Amino acid sequence: MSKLKLGVLISGRGSNLQALIDACAAPGFPAEIALVLSNKADAFGLERASGAGIATAVVDHRGYPGDKPAFEAAMDAALREAGVELVCLAGFMRLLSPWFVGQWHNALINIHPSLLPSFKGLDTHERALAAGVRFHGCTVHYVRPEMDEGPIIAQAAVPVLPGDDGHRLADRVLLSEHRLYPHAVRLIAEGRARVDGDMVRIDGPVPDLAALVNPPL
Ligand code: GRF
Repeated sequence: MSKLKLGVLISGRGSNLQALIDACAAPGFPAEIALVLSNKADAFGLERASGAGIATAVVDHRGYPGDKPAFEAAMDAALREAGVELVCLAGFMRLLSPWFVGQWHNALINIHPSLLPSFKGLDTHERALAAGVRFHGCTVHYVRPEMDEGPIIAQAAVPVLPGDDGHRLADRVLLSEHRLYPHAVRLIAEGRARVDGDMVRIDGPVPDLAALVNPPL
């Protein structure tokens, strides 16, 4: 069976990209990475991709001062040229316009380090601690024009532990992200994640997510 072609958009270290690279390398995984695209030439994730023999591209937003449409058109062209079918945001730090989001409607997903709809935006771990929540976590969702909004595909809850600070909590959430993102991509690639209005319906059995994504306490 042919594999779903992924385009992964990054801006930095690319640990979620690495999780997708590793997942795609496993026999039988139903997706492959066709292109890793960064808006920063020095993003470490580009080295990860090259090391794995994956095609890379840099579309630097600073090359398009005041012209976001041209920046996004260049990204869109690179993704189409590579035959990308599903765009995965993995620490991509530019807000995408409604035009770009519309071009990839239901073919554009993001991973966010909180249990959405709580804690949209940045500094999620510190804000979760300040709010005193007992569970934090991460979410993979389809992208809509509003920031960190869109139908939820998968989530993983991570308990907040006594003595946690933002870094400790972030480290544990990141481990869960690395398990959750490949899981969500697999659901889509297998055609089992169906967008139904504002929700995603999952067809067929879902593995025990708690065991899948939470490191042992
Ligand atoms: C992750 O925490 C992800 O949830 C957020 O940005 C961070 C990217 O980290 N969107 P990495 O570049 O994948 O290591």
